[in-house]
Amino acid sequence: MKIMVKTARPDQPHHSTRITFVFSSFFFILFLCVLSSINEVRFNGLVKLGRSALSNIPYQSINPSLPGNSFSSAPNLRILIGILTLPDQYRRRDFLRLIYGIQSPEGAKVDVKFVFCNLTKEDQKVLVALEIMRYNDIIILDCKENMNKGKTYTYFSSLPEILNSTDGPYPPYHYVMKADDDTFFRLDKLVESLRPLPREDLYYGYVIPCPSMDPFNRYMSGMGYLISWDLVEWIRTSDIPKNHTEGPEDKVVGDWIRDGHRAKNRYNAKWSMYNYPDPPTRCTHELWPDTVAVHLLKDQEKWIRTLKYFNVTDNLKPSKLYHIP
Ligand SMILES: *[C@@H]1O[C@H](CO)[C@@H](O)[C@H](O)[C@H]1NC(C)=O
Ligand SMILES: *[C@@H]1O[C@H](CO)[C@@H](O)[C@H](O)[C@H]1NC(C)=O
Ligand SMILES: *[C@@H]1O[C@H](CO)[C@@H](O)[C@H](O)[C@H]1NC(C)=O
Ligand SMILES: *[C@@H]1O[C@H](CO)[C@@H](O)[C@H](O)[C@H]1NC(C)=O
Repeated sequence: MKIMVKTARPDQPHHSTRITFVFSSFFFILFLCVLSSINEVRFNGLVKLGRSALSNIPYQSINPSLPGNSFSSAPNLRILIGILTLPDQYRRRDFLRLIYGIQSPEGAKVDVKFVFCNLTKEDQKVLVALEIMRYNDIIILDCKENMNKGKTYTYFSSLPEILNSTDGPYPPYHYVMKADDDTFFRLDKLVESLRPLPREDLYYGYVIPCPSMDPFNRYMSGMGYLISWDLVEWIRTSDIPKNHTEGPEDKVVGDWIRDGHRAKNRYNAKWSMYNYPDPPTRCTHELWPDTVAVHLLKDQEKWIRTLKYFNVTDNLKPSKLYHIP
């Protein structure tokens, strides 16, 4: 194809060519300005269009490493958090279900279960059965409800049998925790702190006494301590725990481990775990970003202050259905 280029005719007088040139240059520059501003509008529109097109694709299909995607591998860290509580604590359980239900740490399976002994009342048989049908997050052990008379022993020593199955992975959980129902765990921070740690012979928690930073000192506080699955199996089979089940439950676990020469791997999670700052003691710490757990949340005010501090409602989706200032 021939490209036609319009040039000034050679027979035209010289000065008129110049005027035409100045005029056409002026209009050409004006044209360029208009064109570029139109293009800017169009370009922004395209960017917006592109973004909304992307946001319509479910996030997981463009990020294959996210859990829940059929192409991703199974979570490579499995943790059971057993919250020891009482059958009648319905409201506490519902609250904790909210707290843990909104957390989903990446690449890990964290199961939170409520643990208690035999039911004793007729209404519990209906209400707890309803909860199990709805949430399936309750473990009822074969024991009579107690604090420091062996419930923790029954908990750990029952798990290998309760959880063994031929179709699930082994171990069913890499780590098993015993937690209090007045402790708030930030699951992503917990997972983050566990990732680099050994998965065998591990004892993790907030070492007692409070000022101590030595995880081999005595034992880990009952606010929430964690042991690896091999230690759970050891508790099931060894005579050392079997012989010594009574006493403050957290101290008793520390005694087993000391007497059995177990847990060569220990991790002191202080001061990422601590007691709520008020009233101040040697076990408390101010709320701060580097937090795995806060303990002694004894009333609603303390829970609210803690949840606010950690921005737990920041991910609330905007909607026309509600307005929360
Ligand atoms: C707990 O309940 C089970 C089944 O109902 C019963 O067999 C067992 O003896 C009870 N255990 C205790 C310690 O009461
Ligand atoms: C589960 O544990 C029980 C008790 O230790 C044992 O008798 C049973 O064979 C185990 N089942 C499987 C499937 O491993
Ligand atoms: C368990 O207790 C019994 C009776 O007190 C004692 O004979 C036995 O040596 C103890 N076993 C262990 C492993 O502590
Ligand atoms: C909570 O959000 C505020 C405001 O965005 C931020 O300054 C603060 O660091 C956040 N707190 C934590 C613990 O992430």
